[in-house]
This record gives sequence, C-alpha cells and structure tokens, in this order.
Amino acid sequence: MCGIVGYVGDKDAYPILINGLRRLEYRGYDSAGVALVHGGSLHVHKCKGKVSDLEAHMEGQERSGSTGIGHTRWATHGPPNDVNAHPHQSSSGDLALIHNGIIENYAAIKEELTHRGHTFLSDTDTEVLVHLIDDVKRTEEVDLPEAVRLALDSVVGAYAIAVVDRNSPDMIVAARKSSPLVIGIGADGEHFLASDATPIVEHTKNVVYLEDGEIAVMEKGSTLKIRNIKNQEKTPFIQELEMHLEALEKGGYDHFMLKEIHEQPRSIRDSMRGRLNLAKGEVVLGGIKDYEQRFVNARRILIVGCGTSWHAGLVGEYLLEDLARISVEVEYASEFRYRDPIIDENDIVIAISQSGETADTLAAIELAKGKGATIIGICNVVGSSIARVTHAGSYTHAGPEIGVASTKAFTAQVTVLTLMSLMIGHKKGTISGSHFYRLLNELESIPDKVEKVLKNEAQIKYIADIYRSASNALYLGRGSSFPVALEGALKLKEISYVHAEGYPAAEMKHGPIALIDEEMPVFVIATKGASYEKVVSNIQEVKARKGKIIAIVTEGDKAVKELADHVIEIPETVDQFVPLLSVVPLQLISYHIAVMLNRNVDQPRNLAKSVTVE
Ligand code: AGP
Repeated sequence: MCGIVGYVGDKDAYPILINGLRRLEYRGYDSAGVALVHGGSLHVHKCKGKVSDLEAHMEGQERSGSTGIGHTRWATHGPPNDVNAHPHQSSSGDLALIHNGIIENYAAIKEELTHRGHTFLSDTDTEVLVHLIDDVKRTEEVDLPEAVRLALDSVVGAYAIAVVDRNSPDMIVAARKSSPLVIGIGADGEHFLASDATPIVEHTKNVVYLEDGEIAVMEKGSTLKIRNIKNQEKTPFIQELEMHLEALEKGGYDHFMLKEIHEQPRSIRDSMRGRLNLAKGEVVLGGIKDYEQRFVNARRILIVGCGTSWHAGLVGEYLLEDLARISVEVEYASEFRYRDPIIDENDIVIAISQSGETADTLAAIELAKGKGATIIGICNVVGSSIARVTHAGSYTHAGPEIGVASTKAFTAQVTVLTLMSLMIGHKKGTISGSHFYRLLNELESIPDKVEKVLKNEAQIKYIADIYRSASNALYLGRGSSFPVALEGALKLKEISYVHAEGYPAAEMKHGPIALIDEEMPVFVIATKGASYEKVVSNIQEVKARKGKIIAIVTEGDKAVKELADHVIEIPETVDQFVPLLSVVPLQLISYHIAVMLNRNVDQPRNLAKSVTVE
C-alpha cells in the first residue's frame, strides 16, 4: 500500500518519478505527489486522484531538479485529499518526506511536537515524521542521515520512508521497517529508489533490497551507504534483477487483469519448470528440499494467508490431506495473529502471499516463528519481506501481477501446493508409484487444458452480458471447488462491486437458499468427480426456486446441461486439479462484467495490490 519512488543523479528527476509512479499505481491511487530539489529550493506538488491527475496538475509548474521523490497513496489516516497527499513538508520548508506504512505512536509524537511549536497541516500519521526529523536535526545539530536515524529510534510502527533536504540537494535518505524498499544502483553514481523493483528495472538491473532497521544514504556521485538504526555500518548486498520490462506492460490487452488471465498457461508451466520431472518420475522443490523429511514427519500443517492467497490455501488443504495424508488447518492471517494459537516446534506453517508484503501474513509468520514452528513461504515477488523471513520456500514464478485482482498468482500458488503435496505424498508413500506417475502426467497437461478453457472466452463474454445487471450472485462448489467458489465470488465483488457469496453447495439449504429467486444467478462448479451427483441435486434445488444456473462442467457432460441455463465446459482432469481449470471461466466472467459496468478493472475502488497495513 502506497508506492514510493526516488531518484538522485544527473538526469531530470521528474520524468523518472512519474514513470515510476505509474508502475507503482497498483499499490494505491487515492492521491499522488512529488518533491523536487533544485539548487537550494524544494518544490512540492501533490493532489488528490491518480498519477494522471498529478501530471495534469503539473502543467506549467516548476519541474526542474535532478533529485526527487514521489508517492502514490492508499489512504489510512485522513481522507484522500490534496492536503493529506504525500510528500509532507517540515514547518521550516527544508525537508520533504514520503512514507508507506503506519506510525502507531504518531499521536504522542504530534502532541509533543505541537508543544514545541510545530504546525501540522494534514490528518496523516506521516506528517509527524518530517517534523520530528527536522526537529532532531536542529536541536541535535546533526546532518540529515543522523537526524533520520535518531528520529526513527523513537518511532513505533511500519515504515518505508524517503526524505530530501533543500540544504543537501544531491541526497536522498531512505529507511525501512516492515515496509518494502528497493534501491537501484545506476551508472555514474546515480541511485533509484522504489517500493518494488518495477520502476527500477528500466534503468538498472543492479538492486539492493533494504533490510528492516536499515537507513540508506543515496548521494549523487557516491557509493550507496547503509547504516542500521544502531549506527552500525552495513555492506550493501547488490543483486541482479531477473525481471523483464515486457512483463510490466499490457502487451496489447485492454487491461493487466485480462493479460494476466491469459498468461496462466505460461505461468502455471513456469511454476512447474525444473520441478516436475516426468522422465525421472519425480517432483523436486529445490527451495524446500532440506525440509522434505520434516514434511514427511509432520502431523499437522497450518496454512496462513489473506484474500485470494487464503483461497489457494484452502485448495492446498484438500491437496495435502488427500495426497500426503497430513492434517491441515487454514487460517486467515489476520485472525491467527490475534489469537494465542497452539503451535510448537513440530508444526509447519505455510505462508502464502503473492506480494510477499501483506502485513497480516507477515505478523502471523513472526508469531508462529516465535513459537518455534518451521515457516515455509509460497511467494511470487522475489526478495519480498515474506520470502526473506521464512525459513525456506518455493517461489511461484507467475511473473509480476499488476492487476489488483489476483488471477495468475492464484493458479501459480495452487500449482506449487500441488507439487508440494505430490512430493510429500510420494516420499511418504501415500501415493502409489503408478498413481503418482499418472498424476504427474496429468499435471503436465494442465497448461494446455487452461489454454483450451481460454478459447471459450467469447461464450463466457456472452454469458457475462446476460448477467451484467444482476445485483447479487451466488457461487457454489463442493470439495476443492468450494474455495474456487469463494474465489469466483471475490473476483466479482472486488472489480464489479456486485455483491456475491461463495458457499459449499450443500450449505445452501441452511440459509442462502432463501435468497434464490428468478433474478439470482448461481454459478456452480459441477465437474465430473467424487461429488458430482450431490452437486447435481443442489442444482435441482436451485432450479426448483427458479434461480438461474451457470454451471462449469466437464466436457461432454449431459445431466447438468439439461438443468442449467448455461454451461461452460472445461476439459476433463482428475478431481485434485480441477481448481486450476474451473477458476479460469470465473475470472473471465468477473472481468467481462466489470468491463461492461465500466469499472476500473485494474484499480478497483478502495483497494490496493499490496496490503501493508493490518
Ligand atoms: C485478490 O484479488 C485480492 N486483491 C486480495 O484478496 C489479495 O489476494 C490479498 O490482499 C493477499 O495478498 P497477497 O497474496 O499479496 O498476500
């Protein structure tokens, strides 16, 4: 939540900052702003709205400066308006600061600084930081990096910040605690700064991921200097980015979400590459190889995540229980962290997160780690906070997901969970040799089958058009199709703003059935498999109440076709892998309804891609 960019070097900072903010806009789009240092002057420009509004606002304004910082906001403290937009400035006008995170003790700091004569203009927690740093700088008579360090020592909360000072025109000071920050090392002593690597990759591939409690000094013409909050010097660890620029563009699609839905055959294949070896008949997950035996011995696995990642975890529960015969509990990270869960050193906790920055998931990990559990991460963003705090893990290799609605990340997470379950089951002997081999073969064919599902897009769009005006929708499924029903409902809610509920199909008669009338579209996952007959009965119950049935069925199905108003066929596969196929039509339905309703598909209202606040 909130995107941060920075540049210091010889070039004009403004275009670099604006491009960077466009890349980071998925992190928040309530307001945007920049601060530019030019000679001894500091110019701050900011306004409510998107980065395009900032660009319009900048017409005719002073844009010079080869040092600058920029911010795109997802509001926490104070409504989205011009005043609450970042950067914030100190009363002296010397400093400007941007922030991603939450300052928990801001009220106490604000009170103290108000007594000391500081005047606050905004409702934000962030503003206290810039006043505090300015205050420390003056009273302690120290330079900017030292003032930042001393000030942060009294701050409680999460932050990634960047500060510029008109008296040090060639310098940016940045610091992080629990919110991400990446520094790009450019040519000739230029430095880039961002919340993630996406704004940096077009300038340099050499990056340093700042660690918690570190303060970085980026000065034009100088090497990067890092100290920690205890004033110990750190050697920057420079890594090479593997990201490609094309992955950050829409590539001819109208929206990132549509592009990402269509990327799934590739992203699922990439999640399996080098891990599923048909020739040798094995699954190898290099990142967790050292923990294989621990998995084999595990009596229980806990899975934590939020939103779509939690849904992937629910699919994982079915997979791990079925294939590896390990008892699994799936928890919302946000609930788990505030209980006193019973966990010990025998437990394995799998944390799932696309961004690797979700605050609740991070907190759940810290809690379980503190109790001695082994923490395994399933993350998409390389080098993210969750990837770094876990003991081991497997990346999903879905590539950058820019659309706020998660699509290819979900199928990549489910793919990794499938591989994990197969690997453990095989090692444990809960899957017989021939069955294991059949499952590997089938899994390898899944990307082609997803490709086939995507070919039904025209029919899916036609169905979307019929139900575009519905104000409610129900999603039903049984077994591992229940989490897919939840995911389908979440997709519709978040990008169309249409109320939708996911339910286990059999639970419908315990309440939600009262909602059904001729206006209600009911999406049912009714593929061939263990609970097929039961789901057919559930469909009959809906039909008897005149509900409209849109069923996801296995190719060639006859029984459901006779009952349903519409069927969308998916290729036949084993029960365990159905979620990888059945979720795709639901993603496309939501996408097309949202487009028809003229919604902002990639940046739905009130949301942000990376939820770094609890
Ligand atoms: C999904 O479409 C969401 N926008 C959201 O629920 C997301 O899955 C959730 O915030 C978790 O994010 P993470 O995977 O990055 O941890």
